[in-house]
Amino acid sequence: MQLRPYRNGDEEAVISLWQQCALTRPWNDPHRDIARKCAEDPTLFLVGTIDEQLMASAMAGYDGHRGWLHYLAVAPEWQGRGYGRELIVAVERLLIERGCPRLMMMVRPGQPRLLEYYRELGYDAGDFTTLGKRLIADE
Ligand SMILES: CC(C)(COP(=O)(O)OP(=O)(O)OC[C@H]1O[C@@H](n2cnc3c(N)ncnc32)[C@H](O)[C@@H]1OP(=O)(O)O)[C@@H](O)C(=O)NCCC(=O)NCCS
Repeated sequence: MQLRPYRNGDEEAVISLWQQCALTRPWNDPHRDIARKCAEDPTLFLVGTIDEQLMASAMAGYDGHRGWLHYLAVAPEWQGRGYGRELIVAVERLLIERGCPRLMMMVRPGQPRLLEYYRELGYDAGDFTTLGKRLIADE
């Protein structure tokens, strides 16, 4: 797998990947999510390719206090071969280079195997509840 930053021409392939990985939600327009990321700081938005076919993504960011990881995806036909782990490690390295002390991610409920996967990679739930409030009501 080759890793590189997201480029404009990747949009349709990335969205198709997210759909295959069941990461899209009606309240998050993926086109808008990508546009927002590109307008803010796309440097930690990575894609993975094999034979130039886009098959993985990780949309990370650093807010000066914590790093966040979203849209971690490996295409179903490539799952279970260590590419997910490789992507996470690459994101961790880039964040460490920037001085980011802790990487966070949100996991939807009902995925005990996924939680175990992250635990094995050193992630813990921490003693807090994540809260969120929508600031812009997307149509
Ligand atoms: C999570 C994901 C990125 C892992 O990528 P991957 O390349 O398959 O991961 P790795 O090969 O590094 O590790 C495989 C391990 O991940 C776990 N795993 C993989 N996919 C999983 C899934 N959908 N749910 C729960 N656990 C999963 C398994 O425990 C597996 O371990 P095993 O092979 O020992 O059984 C990939 O499964 C994926 O894209 N899933 C759908 C999208 C998703 O849920 N993303 C995370 C959002 S928080």
